[in-house]
Formats: sequence, structure tokens, C-alpha cells
Amino acid sequence: MNTIIPFISRSDPAERAAWIAALERAMPTQSIRDFATLSKAEREQAMVAIVANPDPAELAQFLNLVWVQSLWAGVERIVQELPGTQLKIVRMVDPQLADTMAEAVLAWTLYLHRDMPRYRAQQARGEWLAQPLPLPRERRVSILGLGNLGILAAQRLMTHGFTLAGWSRSKYVVEGMDTYAGAVGLQDMLAQTDILIALLPLTPQTRGLLDGAALAAMPRGASIINFARGPILVEDALISALDSGHIDHAVLDVFDREPLPPGHAYWKHPSVTVLPHISAPTNQTTASAIVAAHMAAYFQSGVIPPSVDLTRGY
Ligand SMILES: NC(=O)c1ccc[n+]([C@@H]2O[C@H](COP(=O)([O-])OP(=O)(O)OC[C@H]3O[C@@H](n4cnc5c(N)ncnc54)[C@H](OP(=O)(O)O)[C@@H]3O)[C@@H](O)[C@H]2O)c1
Repeated sequence: MNTIIPFISRSDPAERAAWIAALERAMPTQSIRDFATLSKAEREQAMVAIVANPDPAELAQFLNLVWVQSLWAGVERIVQELPGTQLKIVRMVDPQLADTMAEAVLAWTLYLHRDMPRYRAQQARGEWLAQPLPLPRERRVSILGLGNLGILAAQRLMTHGFTLAGWSRSKYVVEGMDTYAGAVGLQDMLAQTDILIALLPLTPQTRGLLDGAALAAMPRGASIINFARGPILVEDALISALDSGHIDHAVLDVFDREPLPPGHAYWKHPSVTVLPHISAPTNQTTASAIVAAHMAAYFQSGVIPPSVDLTRGY
């Protein structure tokens, strides 16, 4: 049966077309249709849609929509833009995305562990100077968020020999690492962290979590990697901590405003590495295969995949 599945997104036309093509390759018997091409009747018939940063005004035209499949892992924007919605929001959970993120976490942890920013600066000064090299097991790496992404990243780092800790809302037992939960747990973990990696969703509870007090709780000379969302980290607090030398270096992939505005202090800060939100891009082929499996299950037996808990915000 050829079913129309609406695709609703604020991305530019080329990106929308590329997604529709990838989704149609994964679902050759379905017709994936951009919002603008759908008639009023087609919009009103749809019970499911695929979304990527959808415009709430466009979503509101789908009067019978039961659930939406987001192409993104982070859903803070759609959750915030649809307060009180009855719609079920299914986010992207793709093992390939977790694998790509684990690779990024290992790469940028090694960048800090191996003092690459310092050697780059030394080279610019023509300075020949060996820095101390701790063993991986002497480097305490902590992960904020032990979900789909955090847990695999932790395991990848443990394979390399780093000493791991992790913090989440629920307290977990994870072989080979110390785990923490709650505000007191966070303080305890931060005090024993050389490299902190943020892999938390952005929610009212995590917004501003890494403020001046949290940074001060970390040992002098610790570093930070933010691969989650910009507003988890308070920008002014980070810049002060970097300027004072309390925090040695920050690798930032996500920002309060993206793209990072020209002239922002991060661009030229010697202790900041700026990445353009590339730590774990969604892969169109693997993500489309996951969407296809969800759609097939729904059209065959009405099964809706697990959806975001709107009160928790993730
Ligand atoms: N930079 C990029 O390219 C990129 C790519 C993909 C995703 N991301 C970001 O990564 C985030 C995490 O993705 P995921 O798939 O791993 O999410 P997930 O599976 O939902 O895991 C989230 C983790 O964060 C924990 N958490 C949530 N709120 C908390 C709080 N208030 N206090 C302590 N822990 C809290 C959760 O604890 P519980 O286990 O106890 O629930 C869980 O362990 C996404 O939301 C997105 O923002 C970034």
C-alpha cells in the first residue's frame, strides 16, 4: 500500500530534498511528501509525520496527527515549541549515531589527553618543550548523561584505559566505572574529574547546569568537552574560568547561538576549540532505515515507538 507520509521541516530546500530522497530509498513503497506539496485533505488524513525542526504552525494543520518521528536525537526545540501537546514525539535513536559520537568523544578526549592544543601553541612560538604525559588510567574522565550516547562513549573510553565516571538522573550500576546521581553526586564527581564530557539533553533542569559553581568544583587544570547543547554551559562562567586558568581547555561543538556569531569571544580564545556542531551528525542512510522500520511496524500493527516524556523533556 502506498501511504503518504508528510515531511515537515524548517531546513533549506536542498536539505529537505536530500532527506526525502534518502527516506524514499529506505521506504520505496511509501510516498514521502514535503509539507508544501500536500493538499488540505492530505494534511488532515495524516496520522504520522517525519519532522526535523518543524514549524509549529505547519504541524498545527495536521488535525489527526498521532505521532511524529523526529530525525534528530535532541528534541528540546520541538518539546519547547509545543507546550501541552497531545502528540507523541519519537526522537532518533540510532546505534550508528551513538557509534559516531563515541568516536568523537574518544578523538577529542585524546586531543586533550595528548595536550594537542598546548603543542600547537608551542609550535606557533617555536618552542621545543615536552609536557608531562600521564597514563590514560591516571586521567579521570567523567560523562554527564549515561543515555544512548553517554554509555557507549564511556565504554569506548574505558577500552582505551581511561578512568571513567558517569552522572545521570537515575543511579545506574555500570561495570568498570563509578556512577553518580543527584546534585551531591554531581559535586562529588566534578571534584574528581580531569576531563568532563557533556552528553545530556537540554531540559529546564540541565540548562545552566555547568555554571561558575560547577566549574569551581572541578580541580584546577581540568578540561571540558561539550557535545550536548550550548545552554547547558554558562558561557560567561566558562570564559572566566578559562581566563583564570582554572579550566585549562574547552572543546565546544554546541553553542547558545549557532552558527557561533562572528566576534564571539570563543573564536579567538586560546583555550577554546570551536567545532561547528559536527561531533555526531545524523547519517541519512542509517537514520532513514530506522524511520522505515518504525513506519512499517506502525502501518502493520499500529505500534508507536517509545516517545519522549514531555514532563521530563527528553
Ligand atoms: N553535538 C551533536 O552532534 C549531538 C548529536 C546527537 C545528540 N546530541 C545531544 O546529546 C543528547 C543526549 O542524547 P542521548 O541519545 O544519549 O539521550 P538519552 O538517551 O535520553 O540520555 C540522556 C541521559 O541524560 C541523563 N539526564 C537527563 N536529565 C538529567 C538530569 N536533570 N540530571 C542528570 N542526568 C540527566 C539521563 O538520565 P536517566 O538515564 O536517568 O534518564 C540519561 O542518562 C541529546 O539530547 C542531544 O542534545 C548532540
